[in-house]
Amino acid sequence: MRPQSVDLIIKHAQVVLPSGTQTCDVVCRSGKIVDITTDSRGYTAQQELDGHGQYLLPGVIDSQVHFREPGLEHKETIATGTKAALLGGVTSIIEMPNTTPPTTSEAALQQKLDIAADSARTNYAFYAGASADNIEQLAQLEQLPGCPGIKVFMGSSFGSLLVDDTQVLRAILRQCQRRVAVHAEDEQRLRARKALAVASGKVLFHPEWRDVQSALMATQRVVELAKETNAKLHLLHISSAEEMDFLRQQKRLLPKGKVTVETLPQYLHFHAPDCYLQRGSRVQMNPPIRERYHQHAIWDAIHDDTVDVMATDHAPHTLTEKDQAYPYSPSGMPGVQTFLPVLLNLVNQGKLTLEKVVDLVCEGPCRVLGIQHKGRIEVGYDADFVLVDMTRKETLLDQDMASQSGWTPYHGDTVKGFPVATILAGNVVMQDGQLVGLPSGCPLEFKAC
Ligand code: DOR
Repeated sequence: MRPQSVDLIIKHAQVVLPSGTQTCDVVCRSGKIVDITTDSRGYTAQQELDGHGQYLLPGVIDSQVHFREPGLEHKETIATGTKAALLGGVTSIIEMPNTTPPTTSEAALQQKLDIAADSARTNYAFYAGASADNIEQLAQLEQLPGCPGIKVFMGSSFGSLLVDDTQVLRAILRQCQRRVAVHAEDEQRLRARKALAVASGKVLFHPEWRDVQSALMATQRVVELAKETNAKLHLLHISSAEEMDFLRQQKRLLPKGKVTVETLPQYLHFHAPDCYLQRGSRVQMNPPIRERYHQHAIWDAIHDDTVDVMATDHAPHTLTEKDQAYPYSPSGMPGVQTFLPVLLNLVNQGKLTLEKVVDLVCEGPCRVLGIQHKGRIEVGYDADFVLVDMTRKETLLDQDMASQSGWTPYHGDTVKGFPVATILAGNVVMQDGQLVGLPSGCPLEFKAC
């Protein structure tokens, strides 16, 4: 028989498959996985990648990033953010609507899709933001191609988007068929407590200002409203033990998939007060990084599947902006490039398995948001992968970050486990820290609902 010609074979890697991890060859043609085999001699490939001694994972999906374009390109652009993503093994990103202007209309969404079509190095989708002024448009906005759904800021964080009125929130939830992503912090409580933050003048106070009660009140309120309105919720960056307890309970009581939960790697890598003492406003974000007690509870919630997804909340600001006196220093930190390395380091520390990482950052976002054809290494799925060397040690440094902001909260930390190649639609787009080829990202597709 004549050998079949294909585009790429990744050979001899330990492949993290839905059925478990096994050494095999992954054969790709026209952007898809066409075979997974222990004997690929029947194929001739234009390109072969040797995965000996390395692990092959589905391409990572970072389902919460802020890339700041349009409007605040000095912090990040879709080009620089997706470059950072590829260097870190992330092949798809979902971006948030608190840009300038905010993504609250079809035109604003289309503007982002147009920019991404020219400059995105990863696959992409863009949330539409809810406000009191666009409630009537939400049902249509959430169904537009390239849109995973609607995002609501219940507490103000960065940018102008805010929905702090219960009537407005109820009306928004009534409009949406897709899952609604929520930043849950109680705006009134945040406002009432801000004077305390100003008086303290210290970033160490951040988890006190934006305390557990602020987060828990909003989380409880929106879950109650979801019950009343039949909406499906995705609760973003859950940071506290009390919220995890509440959500665990609710998930047991509610129909499967009604409420899904996201947490972040920075809540696992850092803890208060040490991180604030060591790194100052670099680790200031909303909701805040909290004490060890919360970190332990987040681990429990990861292990018992209360947590569905991990993402980074990549939210770059320049170091000059961050240097303003607290609380005027903006909240948010970059993270897309360090996402996978930080998680692989936790695997090497015995706190996670590679299979669990794949569940949280590949399959999880697909299950929660209905992303099509991605998140698994399976025949027929898209050929997006990351090849990782679990023995490689790297020190994460500001100067190695591709983000326009040019720094990382992990600066100086050494991690073990590192991405060595990123493959997008069957093309090697990053190898040994070098980008290959031109931007070739495509819009993500979502299941109809
Ligand atoms: O700390 C944060 N910064 N949390 C958010 O939710 C928004 C973000 C930003 O856009 O800077």
